[in-house]
Amino acid sequence: MEGENTRSGHSGGISRKTLLKAALIATPVPLLAGQLPALARDAAASGRPLTPTPYCDDGDDPTPPQTEGPYFRPNSPQRTVLPGMGTPLTVSGYVFGLACQPLANVLLDFWQADNAGAYDNVTYNFRGHQYTNAQGAFKLTTIVPGLYPGRTRHIHVKAQAPGRPILTTQLYFPGEPRNSTDTIFDPALLMTVRTVGTGREATFDFVLNVPGTPPTNPPTSPPPGGGTWQAGVTYQAGDQVTYGGATYRCLQGHQAQAGWEPPNVPALWQHL
Ligand SMILES: [Fe+2]
Repeated sequence: MEGENTRSGHSGGISRKTLLKAALIATPVPLLAGQLPALARDAAASGRPLTPTPYCDDGDDPTPPQTEGPYFRPNSPQRTVLPGMGTPLTVSGYVFGLACQPLANVLLDFWQADNAGAYDNVTYNFRGHQYTNAQGAFKLTTIVPGLYPGRTRHIHVKAQAPGRPILTTQLYFPGEPRNSTDTIFDPALLMTVRTVGTGREATFDFVLNVPGTPPTNPPTSPPPGGGTWQAGVTYQAGDQVTYGGATYRCLQGHQAQAGWEPPNVPALWQHL
């Protein structure tokens, strides 16, 4: 609704530290302090080089190439949709270089377990590769992978910018009980995940070790699924926004940031 956002410049905001503290006190959020998923796109304003996405592997690649570089040819079909039964999941985001420059034509090869936690090592179920577009964006449509013994929930991916080394890594889900016991788990690889209807919408930005110059217009975080909430806007107590089809009332004045979307921070936003 028009006029719901308050864009006044009042600086009655609270610090990130205070917010995190408030969020932890207000609700048993599954994330521990320091595990809050952060999107690389939001670091662009800092002017500092981004931290590359870390390596992570558990040897589940069904057909690993004998040598992975410099020209990786994935065995999987090129597709953005991995069909199958289970809880619908989309994973979207950007691939950046070290200067937060979007990287186009980056190969992203995804593979994961099925709903029951099994990998298909014979055909190509739940395997597929795609390339980032001119804005460095990607979107994978799949299901939430099932659990298998010894590991927390994860999605495998190999990422390779043209002519650059391959990054083999995994993406994780916040709030998974096994995150705290899985020795391979890395909180730097947590996606931002929200529930939409019966499905999940996840966001993750990859950072590859590719030098470059900062873009003039770095991408921002539009609310997935639409809504009036926006990162960067200063909200005051009582303001109302919509996000993902729901309406929220601001409980504490703050400047919105990606990762602080209304469903993620009950200390700041009350679901109406
Ligand atoms: Fe695995």
